[in-house]
Amino acid sequence: MRIVLGVGGGIAAYKVASLLRLFTEAGHDVTVIPTEASTRFVGTATWEALSGNPVSNSVFDDVHLVNHVRLGHEADLVVVAPATADLLAKAATGQAGDLLTNTLLMAHGPVLFAPAMHTEMWQHAATRANVETLRGRGAAVLEPASGRLTGADSGPGRLPEPQAIFDAAMALVQSRSDYQLPLAGRTVTISAGGTREPLDPVRFLGNRSSGKQGVALAVAARNAGATVRLLAAHMEVPAPAGVDVQRVETAMELREAALAAAADSDVIIMSAAVADFRPAEVSDTKIKKRDDTADPVITLVRNPDILQELVEQRNASRAGSGQLVVGFAAETGDSQGDVLAYAQAKLQRKGCDLLVVNHVGMDKVFGQDSNEVVILSRAGSEPQEASGTKTEVSEAIIRRISFELNHVSPRA
Ligand code: CTP
Repeated sequence: MRIVLGVGGGIAAYKVASLLRLFTEAGHDVTVIPTEASTRFVGTATWEALSGNPVSNSVFDDVHLVNHVRLGHEADLVVVAPATADLLAKAATGQAGDLLTNTLLMAHGPVLFAPAMHTEMWQHAATRANVETLRGRGAAVLEPASGRLTGADSGPGRLPEPQAIFDAAMALVQSRSDYQLPLAGRTVTISAGGTREPLDPVRFLGNRSSGKQGVALAVAARNAGATVRLLAAHMEVPAPAGVDVQRVETAMELREAALAAAADSDVIIMSAAVADFRPAEVSDTKIKKRDDTADPVITLVRNPDILQELVEQRNASRAGSGQLVVGFAAETGDSQGDVLAYAQAKLQRKGCDLLVVNHVGMDKVFGQDSNEVVILSRAGSEPQEASGTKTEVSEAIIRRISFELNHVSPRA
């Protein structure tokens, strides 16, 4: 999930570091938005280091990203902790003076406030009215815990424990009948890594694919609520938790696994680098170098195009099912045409619904952590660009896939 964690200006801000940890360790992508006042208690460096994301509380930072609109819009959940009396008042009256209050006004998903303040502030009629207003609008406002407060006194006003806020946040997301993760109830099959085509018991023909993109896609799909099946060819990175992993070696094994998995998948993403050719013969014994015979010549035969077969299978047996078939293309331009022209031709040839196009050179894409892609659609919508880390690019691809599934009428 994408979570926005708003931090208010109270002494309890330091406890929110543990809450942030709980979210990130559960695999969520968290953007922290501290109020100006809260940075007197905990600095932005702490939030950046713990979340792994940039942190700002100004609407004037990174204006080109339109963060004051985007962050709330894209968040699956917004949590405000500690929610001070001031923040509750601002949220209740719809103020938009900083990035956090803007984000609250733009939030589409569930919003949870975890208040912390002095008992008299919490019990003041103004705060009571603000809390009622927020609850009336559908936000969840937790009751503060009772106990020792900042001074010598005690009473209700303590920030609930991080684990309690975490549990309440997860329960809130699940309980929202009007809110669902974009891929909830969907099955997504993703092929990743590079196939290996054996020559003999010790040698194979392989490729440079690291599997990073496929794994990042699997994580993004899982976080979007999907049941994920990862068809893992050779990968240099471990498979992520929370996905069903099926290991494959060769293109033919991948073909069999993909066609079988497609039977009950809503989405199939072919991000694996599949060998186009395999040795015509695989020797049972190690091929030896010998002085008395000529050096061996390897004859290759074509592997079937799995992506194309997936489209054919969908069109033949699942027409109208809405199944989405997504291909990847690693393209280089040359004197005959540019990358996009080649990619458009490949999209038409393969017949898949979306084609994610990487522009490759020897130093680009394979094994790298960042990426720049263009998403082409057979239906003919404008090419969509996405760039950033492989995680960010994968999230953009999964958002596009969710949009196609949820808002575009069935294909083929
Ligand atoms: N693919 C596939 N089966 C193959 C080869 C490729 O399913 N035998 C899939 C890849 O997983 C990817 C897409 O097809 O999603 C594009 O692969 P690519 O190698 O870029 O294209 P090719 O069809 O091999 O075309 P060319 O080599 O002519 O560029």
